[in-house]
Amino acid sequence: MSNNLFDFGMIGLGVMGRNLLLNMADHGFSVIGFDKDEAKNSALEAAATPGTTVKGVPDLAHMVQQLQTPRKVMMLVPAGKPVDDVIASLLPLLEKDDVIIDGGNSHYTDTLRRVKALEGTGINFMGMGVSGGEQGARTGPSMMPGGNEQAYLHLKPVLESIAAKVNGEPCVAYLGKGGAGHYVKMVHNGIEYAIMQLISESYALLKHAGLNNDQLHEVFKSWNEGALQSFLVEITANIFLQNDDKTGQRLVDVISDKAGSKGTGKWTSQDSMELPVAVPVIDTAVAMRTISGYKDERVQASALYPDSAVDTGHASEEWIKEVHDALYFATILSYAQGLAMLHQASKELTMDIPLPQVVSVWRGGCIIRSSLLEIFTRAYQESPELSNILLNQEVAQLVKSIEGNTRKVVAKAVLAGIPAAGFMSSLGYFDAYRSERMPTNLIQAQRDYFGAHTYQRTDIPGTFHTEWGQH
Ligand code: 6PG
Repeated sequence: MSNNLFDFGMIGLGVMGRNLLLNMADHGFSVIGFDKDEAKNSALEAAATPGTTVKGVPDLAHMVQQLQTPRKVMMLVPAGKPVDDVIASLLPLLEKDDVIIDGGNSHYTDTLRRVKALEGTGINFMGMGVSGGEQGARTGPSMMPGGNEQAYLHLKPVLESIAAKVNGEPCVAYLGKGGAGHYVKMVHNGIEYAIMQLISESYALLKHAGLNNDQLHEVFKSWNEGALQSFLVEITANIFLQNDDKTGQRLVDVISDKAGSKGTGKWTSQDSMELPVAVPVIDTAVAMRTISGYKDERVQASALYPDSAVDTGHASEEWIKEVHDALYFATILSYAQGLAMLHQASKELTMDIPLPQVVSVWRGGCIIRSSLLEIFTRAYQESPELSNILLNQEVAQLVKSIEGNTRKVVAKAVLAGIPAAGFMSSLGYFDAYRSERMPTNLIQAQRDYFGAHTYQRTDIPGTFHTEWGQH
């Protein structure tokens, strides 16, 4: 049997599982997939590139028996109970040194629980974030594995060969202990939410100033050719040109404004508060998706509180440049908040997340890939323990050069009543972060006044309490 053993096994042959396997096969690995649904097994085999070794089977034990040891088995099944069920059915079939990889969007605490549950069995469990969607999985995703570093060495050749490449470097690396892989992916998605929110605000500001879809396409296209070059700006430019088959209008204009979400952005906000780390642009993005769901109330409120008479004016080149700079500024702030969260979580949750590798892995294949990540990669190479990229000199120069236009955009949005909470939040964070002295001394005084919570002084060390009100 040893002549025909497969290099890699996949459980769950939905779009992501199938495409990752086909990608591996295209890179010379022999692969086998398991799905109870025979149609998915047939679809996998039918989609294989001629000359590659790809097989789909409806029996889990049958798949496991045909894998080379140590076995490498990835699952791409819905997060939650299905992952635990798959592990339970796999365990009796595996042996020491085999590696199970969960490539779905699992919560990192579940991953950590699973890593711990398997410790001592000799079987390794790794959580791996996979980004890039359907197309990325097929041609080059960004992958964020975490867990046992020795076990990663078994996966490294196959993952490096299928990953997206930037300057010849693969967009995959070992990203830390325990649930680190899924933690990094969770924060990736938080940043994804933030940038998507900011792009939608830019769209609102430009549309309000009179740009039509063709002009919006041109603006985003030109932005994608400059400093704002990124996957999300690129697809945004394309979206404005897409026609609707049913009405002949531009599709974007007939899409309902209620945004969906599967929860990873919310998890980022929730976990940031546990640490705590401030990620207000991400929090705002989550909140805006929630408000988008209040459609009926928004319709009522829009009649009750009509638009103000103030206009942002027509879309001049100057205005477009100001919105460009505001988007650039707030995007940098979104990465800064997400990366600061990873820096803190790495220590608090003892994950040892290497930030230089994280930003390097995000440069290609993933949803938040952008040319900014080249700048951040340089920043972390220079200083791997940087607590916030805003403290890097190159980033500081950049931020200072676009700060003024961001203030103009926020001011105009406020006066015209255009919702731009993501931009406002980025500026609010920035102004607090760059304040040597915040007004929070007053909060300390209030806390001590009503609750004897004590305070520290600026001049004398120690903890103090005052009987307030007796001037
Ligand atoms: C990726 C995406 C992917 C998915 C999000 C969507 O990196 O490829 O992040 O994982 O598109 O989970 O999330 P929402 O449905 O919550 O917007």
